[in-house]
Amino acid sequence: MPANCLDNDTLSKLVDTSDEWIASRTGIKQRRLASSAQSVSEIAAIAATNAIAMAGISPLDVDLIILATSTADDLFGSACQIQTQIGATNAVAFDLTAACSGFVFGLVTAAQYIRTGVYQNVVLIGGDILSRWVDWSDRSTCVLFGDGAGAIVMQAKSHDFLLGFEIKSDGTQNNCLNLSYSPESQALTPDIEVGKGNFKPITMNGKEVYRFAVQRVPEVIDKALFRAKITADQVDWLILHQANQRILDAVAQRLNIPSHKVISNLANYGNTSAASIPLALDEAVRAGQIKTGDTIVASGFGAGLTWGAAIFKWGI
Ligand code: ACO
Repeated sequence: MPANCLDNDTLSKLVDTSDEWIASRTGIKQRRLASSAQSVSEIAAIAATNAIAMAGISPLDVDLIILATSTADDLFGSACQIQTQIGATNAVAFDLTAACSGFVFGLVTAAQYIRTGVYQNVVLIGGDILSRWVDWSDRSTCVLFGDGAGAIVMQAKSHDFLLGFEIKSDGTQNNCLNLSYSPESQALTPDIEVGKGNFKPITMNGKEVYRFAVQRVPEVIDKALFRAKITADQVDWLILHQANQRILDAVAQRLNIPSHKVISNLANYGNTSAASIPLALDEAVRAGQIKTGDTIVASGFGAGLTWGAAIFKWGI
């Protein structure tokens, strides 16, 4: 997590909002923000290094690095910079973009490389610096987001710990949540004009995204549970993308998963996009909450629209 912390009271001095409004509608109390000098690759490399140390392997053992991000430092991709920063010289690295579903999509992607026997050790990182792309005068979006990065190491073992998954997308609702290219033309010749690189800040239809999340997320988790051949009462932990406490509560209620099994840290960090699930997982593992062999449901949802769920057993 970046060190800079912006709480709701301080944010209320920037836009017309209040701690009461933000906390009661979202559960968020504060968020961490990267400085202008900090890069996604820098915070992602720290997360990756910590995950590699926890796994007890060397960076040289890493075969593949996947960076799930929507806010790469470089539109050509940031994963290769991480590869260099962590010294994983034997790995291949690439970015994967699926907004707040990025970590779950990355987990499923990494598992396919492991299942086919191609790679043994994969570092999967979810990292985003959305504060660069938020309109800090728009109270309907700026209160929601924070910055951060989290990582896991996935390894080939004799048992497959990814019990089931389901990933989905629906482009017909793409306009609900965007960080889109803003067309601006530049004339090259009297006959030819091309675009000039520029992006608009995040725009969101909050109500539609909320409706989508509380309907689609339980569906996709049910499907993943079915594929895993387990029922919701066999789940030890539910780690949802940390977007809004009301979404977490509604999804858990629909699945009949009691609140003590729902991991929530969004009060401290807000919505950190692709980073939110690995950050929550990391905190819960290091706090001794999640233990070896526990069954975890992770579900991400967001822009695209994209959503997905993965059921896995924690291995360390
Ligand atoms: N402070 C004070 N008032 C506010 C604020 C604010 N920060 N933001 C909006 N309001 C006002 C609105 O102007 C509106 O006022 P009005 O009634 O006078 O018009 C009123 O509060 C209600 O606004 P709504 O938008 O209806 O508020 P709602 O209860 O829907 O909550 C929220 C908004 C929190 C954004 C909710 O819709 C939500 O959580 N949606 C899901 C968003 C989400 O999770 N997005 C991330 C997806 S992940 C990804 O891919 C990035």
